[in-house]
Amino acid sequence: MNLIKRALMLLLIFTKFLAFAQGELITLGVLSGALSGLGYYAYDKYKCVYQECCTDEYIPADLDRLEYALTAKLYGQQIAHETIINALRGHLENHNSHKALVMSFHGTPGTGKNYVVQMIAKAFYKNGVQSNYFHFFNGRNDFPLQRKVDDYQEELYKIIFNGLQQCERSMFVFDEVDKMPEGLLNVLVPFLDYNNYHKSTKNSKSVYQNKAIFIFLSNTGSTKIVQHLKNLWEKGKKREDTKLQDFETLVAGGAFTEKGGFHHSDTIQTSVIDHYVPFLPLEEVHVRKCLARSFTDRGVTPKEEMLQEALSYLTFGPEPLNLYSMAGCKRIEQKVATIVYRKQSESKPID
Ligand SMILES: Nc1ncnc2c1ncn2[C@@H]1O[C@H](COP(=O)(O)OP(=O)(O)OP(=O)(O)O)[C@@H](O)[C@H]1O
Ligand SMILES: [Mg+2]
Repeated sequence: MNLIKRALMLLLIFTKFLAFAQGELITLGVLSGALSGLGYYAYDKYKCVYQECCTDEYIPADLDRLEYALTAKLYGQQIAHETIINALRGHLENHNSHKALVMSFHGTPGTGKNYVVQMIAKAFYKNGVQSNYFHFFNGRNDFPLQRKVDDYQEELYKIIFNGLQQCERSMFVFDEVDKMPEGLLNVLVPFLDYNNYHKSTKNSKSVYQNKAIFIFLSNTGSTKIVQHLKNLWEKGKKREDTKLQDFETLVAGGAFTEKGGFHHSDTIQTSVIDHYVPFLPLEEVHVRKCLARSFTDRGVTPKEEMLQEALSYLTFGPEPLNLYSMAGCKRIEQKVATIVYRKQSESKPID
């Protein structure tokens, strides 16, 4: 009897212990759950203090700042200036836009295509071109081989898909499109086109708005731009009075028939490019401004002879009028640096 009593007592104690332990475990579980929930909330709330997020703080998209920069620093490109600002304003203000904004910049070397892209990146992203949402590809370096076009297409598709998953306000820039393998850009069509990408990914959050921006840069069509501007000049039309319409179809035609990434491209055939933006060849008056800025940046007020010397290194064409700088404002930094260095060493007293 005593034995049975003792066994019952032990069982009772064991059961009580179990119930107690279970209670503690539940409390512990609840506590750790709450703590991890709190931790996640805090992480989610404060991670953006330390790292870039897809938020307004990191993507101010400050078009007033862009407009100011274009007015102050971009010379002789009033068509590009207006077209780009209007396109971006339209895109940001249209909350029902089903299509990514797609612009294609065309023009001779050194006329400001990359320069403007940098300005756009700075105005859009707090981290400028360093932003994780700014993606830059160079046709010549990133996609050098025609025979690897299928691999490149696959890679590119993944990068863009993942980029848009990370942040729908991403920007994708393709430089030197004319050096890209033919057909590569066709892989972009679903991302550029009306909502195709969003529909197919069932990304319900962004079904009604496609906020991405795609920009292509190339020299295609630039011979036609130069020829046409020269013709207008000969007819007495001032550069300032030329309009986008004077160049747009010309450039699209040039891009489509010339060799390179756009050649016989679906990207063009499906008309997904919203704006063809011509960058006009720069005249002496514009190059002088670039030179003056470059001297001033080095703390030197240039004399006319210094400007003349720098200009003498540049080639102007086409013959016989030689109205335009063949390399625009490209590589003038090096010339200016040499002139400044020489002047400074000439004026140093000899020991
Ligand atoms: N229109 C311009 N106004 C002011 N500065 C300019 C202009 N165009 C070019 N520059 C200056 O020349 C530099 C080179 O220009 P940029 O790299 O933008 O040329 P690009 O049009 O991209 O030429 P490419 O076709 O050879 O790539 C710029 O960093 C800038 O300092
Ligand atoms: Mg360039």
